[in-house]
Amino acid sequence: MMRVCVEPADSFSFQSAAIAPDKSISHRSAMFAVLAEGQSRIENFLRAEDTLNTLKIVGQLGADIHDDGSVITITSNGIQETAEILDCGNSGTGMRLFCGLLSSAQGHFILTGDEYLKRRPMKRVTQPLRNIGAKLDGRNNGDLAPLSIRGASLQAFNYESKIASAQVKSAMILAALRSDGVCTYYEPELSRDHTERMLKGMGAHIEVNGLITKVWPFEKALKPLNIRVPADPSSAFFFAVAAAITPNSTAILEGVTLNPTRIEAFKVLERMGADIAYDITDERYEPIGTITVKHAALNAVVVEENISWLIDELPALSIAMACASGQSIIKNAEELRVKESDRIKTVVDNLNLCGISTEEYPDGYAVNGGTLQKACVNSYGDHRIAMSFLVAGLRCGMEVEDIECINTSFPNFFDLLGQCTKVTR
Ligand code: S3P
Repeated sequence: MMRVCVEPADSFSFQSAAIAPDKSISHRSAMFAVLAEGQSRIENFLRAEDTLNTLKIVGQLGADIHDDGSVITITSNGIQETAEILDCGNSGTGMRLFCGLLSSAQGHFILTGDEYLKRRPMKRVTQPLRNIGAKLDGRNNGDLAPLSIRGASLQAFNYESKIASAQVKSAMILAALRSDGVCTYYEPELSRDHTERMLKGMGAHIEVNGLITKVWPFEKALKPLNIRVPADPSSAFFFAVAAAITPNSTAILEGVTLNPTRIEAFKVLERMGADIAYDITDERYEPIGTITVKHAALNAVVVEENISWLIDELPALSIAMACASGQSIIKNAEELRVKESDRIKTVVDNLNLCGISTEEYPDGYAVNGGTLQKACVNSYGDHRIAMSFLVAGLRCGMEVEDIECINTSFPNFFDLLGQCTKVTR
């Protein structure tokens, strides 16, 4: 188990076009290429454990993959049965979307993951898929991996989801594409919409009207993808918080997707007082551009809406809250409990170790802004907890244990953090 020490920073000026490529879009690029006829071309694919596991599975399912180190091409040969066990590693997105993709494929498939993924709930996808005829099973009556899938004919559906989850929505859209009629999916709050944008770009017939997504089964294969994956706003956000909490500091984050369902945390940081500018420079499936963040005194904030638009950024946002004046509150965020760790507990416990007082609620927590103190904290195997507390170290110094998990989403994180402060392993 590796441990890293970060020293406090006086001030820094950070500019990077090398923020990790978007994880959600990378997973989808590899998977959706399987549905296309012809060769898909993916530039700037995220070379991190989670997405490389997805790419490997796409190969195990029979696709021809060529990687020249810069561009990855994928040519589908349909979905082929395999004797191999498909290992999604730490990735909930990988496992849940593959459930949707494989439910209608011919053959039998086994999906597994690491010790953390095997504890995360899968019923949210296995149940609605079973309701339309999918043959899926796993421990605890289909809730826990390993999961087994026997491809079956799927019926058209009208499904009203109780949770705003892009993973559930995407799994159901993938199933809908190969069902026997027009399907309707309703979500309580709009979740990230990369699946809809990318599949529409590939020629799928999908109509989105507010919270309702209508999907027509495809009659012919989709057009290949041609995509350059933009930088991941969730990864960029660590450096946004770093600049916001460090006096006289700036972070210029280039090539980031500015998809409105992904940049809500930046908007909240702006509401807290940080000076943030957005500049659109490109448009491919989604708007892409530069986000510039400058330090300013931060004030407390209440976060209770559009939670799915910033769910992944809440641990890092909590570090900004710890540095703000007043009490910040996060509500309606019970989904935090089933992420890579129980992020309500892991954020609150670690903030307490850093001398920040908190209150824990079933669906969130309160953070009383104060003075962060150096501590030795654990990541609990959760990449976003590890990176959030390393960023907190810019204020007070920090020791973070169990940092290998950072490789699941942001392998060059330490190279970039090293441009802001001294890091010793
Ligand atoms: C993701 C959706 C979100 C997010 C996860 C990635 C995706 O999960 O937290 O990191 O790529 O679809 P939920 O769908 O569970 O909200």
